[in-house]
Amino acid sequence: MPEWTATRRTKHLPSFLDDARLILVSNRAPYIHRWHLPAPHGDSEATAVAVRKKGMDFGWVRRVPSQVFRLFQNDNGVRWSRPAGGLTSALDPAMQACHGNWDAWGSGSADRDTVNTQDHVRVPPDNPQYTLRRVWLSEAQVRGFYYGFANSALWPLCHLHLERARFNPLHWRHYQAVNAHFAAAVAEECGAERAIVWMQDYHLALCPAYLRQRRPTLAIMHFWHIPWPPWEVYRACPWRRELVEGLLGNDLLGFHLEQHGRNFLECVEHVLGASVDYKAGVVTYAGRETWVGTFPISIDYAWWTRLASGRRVTRRIARLRAQPDLAFPLLGLGVDRLDYTKGIVSRLEAIERFLEKYPTYRGRFGFVQIMVPSRTQIEDYRQVKTQVETLVERINKRFGAGSSAPIHYRYESLEPAELAVYYRMADVVMVTSLHDGMNLVAKEFVAAQIECRGVLLCSEFAGAAEELDSALHINPYDIEGVADSLKRALEMPATEKAYRMARLQAYLAEHNIYKWLADIFTDLARIQENSRVTVTALVPVAASASRAPAPRGA
Ligand code: F6P
Repeated sequence: MPEWTATRRTKHLPSFLDDARLILVSNRAPYIHRWHLPAPHGDSEATAVAVRKKGMDFGWVRRVPSQVFRLFQNDNGVRWSRPAGGLTSALDPAMQACHGNWDAWGSGSADRDTVNTQDHVRVPPDNPQYTLRRVWLSEAQVRGFYYGFANSALWPLCHLHLERARFNPLHWRHYQAVNAHFAAAVAEECGAERAIVWMQDYHLALCPAYLRQRRPTLAIMHFWHIPWPPWEVYRACPWRRELVEGLLGNDLLGFHLEQHGRNFLECVEHVLGASVDYKAGVVTYAGRETWVGTFPISIDYAWWTRLASGRRVTRRIARLRAQPDLAFPLLGLGVDRLDYTKGIVSRLEAIERFLEKYPTYRGRFGFVQIMVPSRTQIEDYRQVKTQVETLVERINKRFGAGSSAPIHYRYESLEPAELAVYYRMADVVMVTSLHDGMNLVAKEFVAAQIECRGVLLCSEFAGAAEELDSALHINPYDIEGVADSLKRALEMPATEKAYRMARLQAYLAEHNIYKWLADIFTDLARIQENSRVTVTALVPVAASASRAPAPRGA
């Protein structure tokens, strides 16, 4: 019986929170409402931008036809969905257990139509457990903040793709403004109540300091879901000082891996000359302390196991197995958000090499590649899509015959129940990230392997590899090596497969999302009890929370 379960977490929550309200803040929201029938201007992925209530925004001209169109729809025209991605899927069960408040960007075409006057909506929509507050961004802000600074500068910088990073002063100004906007919304949400604010990810690096200026004694923590780069890479960012100053507005800052935390501490020392205690993991700057900790995120293990063992999944597996295009004796699987960091191209090259080098597998091995649309407005992402599709076509042409093309490619977002079907069917799952904070697909696959007959090939550059030591570790840059590891996985004796999988399962059953949550809150409580410095001064970030400063170093 795992030590941490949703029930135990709920029971212990009051002592962790000490009766404070939990406010979680992220860019991406856990639930998105969309108009179901195709709106005239099209709402897809995150391009469906909910607009600000005030201010000059001429996007309304383009939206008029869709507004008219919606007059003819009733409530049945609104559908809700969960976005793909580790952050929301990992934190939603945690929030359901905590019953807190989640503030996030309302990006769906029907998001505005489903909130009350305080911009609140209760979620999950089919079984409300907590309140989601939607924060509105203008189209210009989405372009500059989300597609711009967050995903065209910070994302490639943190994933060591320096050549892709675009440091654009206009994007930076939007990033500042949106962070200030989030801080204002959170301050309003907190009101006069005691609260613990929990920021998420790289979209909100400045928000902690902005919020701290408004509410100096608030408990603020942050989880950084992606890697933090070494100083030699980080130094390329023109706003390297402002970003770390923003994050030092936190009391606690968490990373998946110790290495990411160490990189952060080194950057802080270089950029600010702040006092850093590496052993304790604490920075003292401008009269206050920020603690840095390691908390590898996980999944709701029991939930995935239950889902995968369900009758619906079992029936669907039987149906899929009967499909001619999936009727291979051996099946591999890749599930990724479309992203150049996931190494999808290298993976397909390795499969091509495998089929070339080991011809006996032709016609016997098929591979399902599920690629979830993501950040489609960014050219680098569009290029990856083209590269992947070209390769799929080439491999299928080279090694396919009739309906038995080896690569079965789906470019769409799948519901967890459908993913569980594939996870359970797979003989091997390939995680080939070139650099990845964690990678929860690896963990979901393990949880869904009810029969313990599959093998996990896990990139040594994914955070998950550090914990999942019974997986076969691969180097995605070594195409020949990955092809050979694939063969090894497929030929592994059933007893070894079962032994490895059972070890991974035992580990994840215990190290689940609730343990992650408990570890973070326990650490926050320890920090608050042992605080060595009283909060007297503010982190000197030059912005007020409502007005962002002009960029420095542009
Ligand atoms: O990996 C970083 C991350 O923010 C995840 O936490 C999340 O799963 C994913 O990116 C989603 O990206 P986006 O919000 O751009 O769709």
